[in-house]
Amino acid sequence: MDYSKIKIPNHVGIILDGNGRWAQERGLTRSEGHQEGFNNLMKLTEHVFKTGVKVLSVYAFSTENFKRSKEEVDFLMNLFENKFAEYAKDLKEKNIRLVFSGGRGKPVKKKIIDIINKCEEITKECTNGIMNICFNYGSHLELVEAFKKMHTDIDNHKFSIDDVNEDMLYHYMFQDLPPIDFLIRTSGELRLSNFMLYQASYAELYFPKTYFPSFDAKEFDKALLEYTSRDRRFGGINYETKNN
Ligand code: FPP
Repeated sequence: MDYSKIKIPNHVGIILDGNGRWAQERGLTRSEGHQEGFNNLMKLTEHVFKTGVKVLSVYAFSTENFKRSKEEVDFLMNLFENKFAEYAKDLKEKNIRLVFSGGRGKPVKKKIIDIINKCEEITKECTNGIMNICFNYGSHLELVEAFKKMHTDIDNHKFSIDDVNEDMLYHYMFQDLPPIDFLIRTSGELRLSNFMLYQASYAELYFPKTYFPSFDAKEFDKALLEYTSRDRRFGGINYETKNN
């Protein structure tokens, strides 16, 4: 694709949905679907950053996903335990920083928290882009934690309540990232499921029917074409395209 004619979003969010249905359609187990989803994510990440995207946030596991069957949760936790470090090594070679958004306590095993901290540590100097994995994540939890941290800083006289503004809230999120420009949810489901609600306030939304394991580089380029065609107004008027 000729990327010179394409608008590249600075921050892309992807809700990785449809692993289970992808597997079911092929007579495979849900776990095999998640495994394939992970394999796809590794390949897709490389492509996304090559197009010029600077920040990629993916929803890998929500705070609510712990309600799934023990078998499925155990499989996913083992996958994360075994793959996060490999992923960090791969990203470091590409000069991409790996960060995680989400609660870093129970019910997540200490071993996984240690791996997460290490992944962030080994990639912290990387400058080519930021990969943000939302794990044990929920937007409501993030906002509640942000308000608590902000309250502590006000109590400690770092600033006064009158200084609080909209931009400041970003610094109190799990990671201090820019707003999401383009939010993709694969598999045809039409909801945001508690994913980066503050950061996605003005995101362009895209809901391809493709299940995540099949959402490849070609599908991503198709999504970029769609993004390029959108007229982003942020509540105002785009005078370049307004015709009356
Ligand atoms: C939702 O599909 C997917 C998940 C809950 C897990 C997503 C995780 C990955 C793709 C692996 C990422 C791995 C790493 C190491 C970052 P679903 O199971 O809800 O699918 P369904 O709606 O078709 O059942």
